[in-house]
Amino acid sequence: MSDHFKVKMKSIDDYENRPKAENPLKIQDLTLRDGHQSLFATRGRTEDMIPVAEMMDEIGFWGVEVWGGATFDTMHRFLNEDPWQRIRTLKRYFKKTPFSMLLRGQNVVGYRNYADDVAKAFVEKAAENGMDIFRTFDALNDFRNFETVVAAIKDCGKHFQGCICYSLTEPRMGGDVYNLDYYIQKAKDLEKMSADSICIKDMAGLMAPYDAFELIKALKETTDIPIHLHSHFTSGMAPMTHLKAVEAGVDIIDTCMSSYAYRTSHPAVEPLVMTLLGTNRDTGFDIKALAEINNVLEKEVLPKYKYLLDDSKVSIIDINVLLHQTPGGMLSNLVNQLREMDALDRIDEVYAELPKVRKDLGQIPLVTPTSQIVGTQTVNNVLFDDENENYKMITAQVKDLCYGLYGKTAVPISAKLQKKALKGYERGKKPITCRPGEVIEPELEKAKKDLKGLTTDLEDIILYTLYPVTGKKFLMYKYGREPVPDSMKAKTLEDVKKEEELIARAKAGKLVEKNNEAVPEKSEHTRSFNVFVDNEFFKVSVDEPDGPPVVTYAQPPAAAPTAMSHGQLQPVVQSPVVVPQTPVVSAAPSVPSAPTPPPVPKPSSSKTESKPAASTASAAEADGTPLKAPMPGMIVRYEKEVGDLVSEGDAVVVLEAMKMENALPAPVSGTIKAINYKSGDSVSKNDVLCIIG
Ligand code: CO
Repeated sequence: MSDHFKVKMKSIDDYENRPKAENPLKIQDLTLRDGHQSLFATRGRTEDMIPVAEMMDEIGFWGVEVWGGATFDTMHRFLNEDPWQRIRTLKRYFKKTPFSMLLRGQNVVGYRNYADDVAKAFVEKAAENGMDIFRTFDALNDFRNFETVVAAIKDCGKHFQGCICYSLTEPRMGGDVYNLDYYIQKAKDLEKMSADSICIKDMAGLMAPYDAFELIKALKETTDIPIHLHSHFTSGMAPMTHLKAVEAGVDIIDTCMSSYAYRTSHPAVEPLVMTLLGTNRDTGFDIKALAEINNVLEKEVLPKYKYLLDDSKVSIIDINVLLHQTPGGMLSNLVNQLREMDALDRIDEVYAELPKVRKDLGQIPLVTPTSQIVGTQTVNNVLFDDENENYKMITAQVKDLCYGLYGKTAVPISAKLQKKALKGYERGKKPITCRPGEVIEPELEKAKKDLKGLTTDLEDIILYTLYPVTGKKFLMYKYGREPVPDSMKAKTLEDVKKEEELIARAKAGKLVEKNNEAVPEKSEHTRSFNVFVDNEFFKVSVDEPDGPPVVTYAQPPAAAPTAMSHGQLQPVVQSPVVVPQTPVVSAAPSVPSAPTPPPVPKPSSSKTESKPAASTASAAEADGTPLKAPMPGMIVRYEKEVGDLVSEGDAVVVLEAMKMENALPAPVSGTIKAINYKSGDSVSKNDVLCIIG
């Protein structure tokens, strides 16, 4: 770095026509992917990207990251958006700037290694839809997991950016595992794979500025391939790290628009543009144009999302990341998981256990999906282990990792843990050493069969393969087979305004008109009704102060729908004039005073295995031993059916929590008497999943 302020400028207006720098720093913008993923739980909707898309296209970014990572997951799971459609839509607005995506190698955009046919088809479809740069990483830095996707990326004529996940076992770069030699060797490996650029992916913001200088300088001396730095702000070091990397000759840097920057996201672009202005690394960007983009984001977009921002702390820097080396997203996952289980007070135990679990699992870098694998297993250990046994509940993903299905770990996995994890493991006791893709059976043909009658579109089939449970749900919405839940629908600025007004009124104590009248005594005319709303049961008492309700309309019995059997009154609670089952003559004293409500109906013993939980759990609990959910999560599948014999310890149901699957064992031997949920259902801690009698 030299020659500061070659160009003399008097005012901000002079900057626009400044001469081009000798070696301008290239910038990739992450606002539309990592930015909202880091700050707003990836909830950004396509419609909220469109207002700034054309303006962003004018800036001169080297690339805009718009896809991959958690976007694919969140879009179909929470936003009812087709992820494939997002690229096509945004491509209409970004006419010049290349699109970039984060690809998890053989993990594609999911949480495990998929078969080669899936990985190949995914890349081809992404390229066809307009993806230009494939930033490819593997959570174990096992580049054998790149082989299939890289061949596809190259075949499509696209840019292969090879990532090295930046990890540490000590506070600074060095030590036995993640030292300078490690990274140099990895860069050489990527060069051999014909990488078009190399990215150092510092997902947790662990890279210290002077380590960045040393590392980038060494990489620049090792290879001619452009070096790209991705460093999260989380620990607060990233702006300094960026500057030292620029001084060491880094070619490309990742930033966000300022309103999507900092906290667990990335440094903002604007200060960097200003810092380099007039130097030989000047980005050449128009800072006023950047300000305009931020203006739109602040006014038109962010009001819809700021409720998602974790503002529980005043500080925007997370010191814990320097102590525990956990990526920001992983930390918030851990906290959420513990909170849902009423165990937030055990966070310090989790922090203490985490490095142990990581070491047992081969000192792997912590990035999706390994951050979830290590994180969930750590939570399981803290909550379920006792003094006699460690690793009492091992997730399916830890078993896969021990088998070698994710690839080769940085150091060997603890032999003791490996042996325990692979006891009864479906693929066998002996771990593999080959490329994981070699042992994973093709998956697309089966998915095609599963979706027969619903869709034959390859994009749908890939989505379903990556996310069988939530993907299927999404496709049911997409093809109108099921109504879209309101919770998945977009919020408008109007909605936000209304919500804010409500909150303001609530804060001012004006939300509820407080009824100062004393609660009246129940009269002799009080009548109770059982009301069923979507299988939920409510007991409602209706009291007419002036006597029993007047029958204004009595439905002739012949026309009454058959479903209106005894005790199943249709939910018409809005009207005080409830149509009673037995016609009541006006003012007649025939209504018994305070009638005993009919008992809660027992669930009909229908043939379907899955029954609504609310009405079955309590009734069925009496008949055997319940298998309760040890944690909140989503039912992936039941391994058994009603009537099946099980032995104590047999896996009965697979529960997904924090994206990891836990096979829950039968607490006793016996017969499955009842199954209370179905695949895709969400359950809370202690919900009765099934009954064994
Ligand atoms: Co990132």
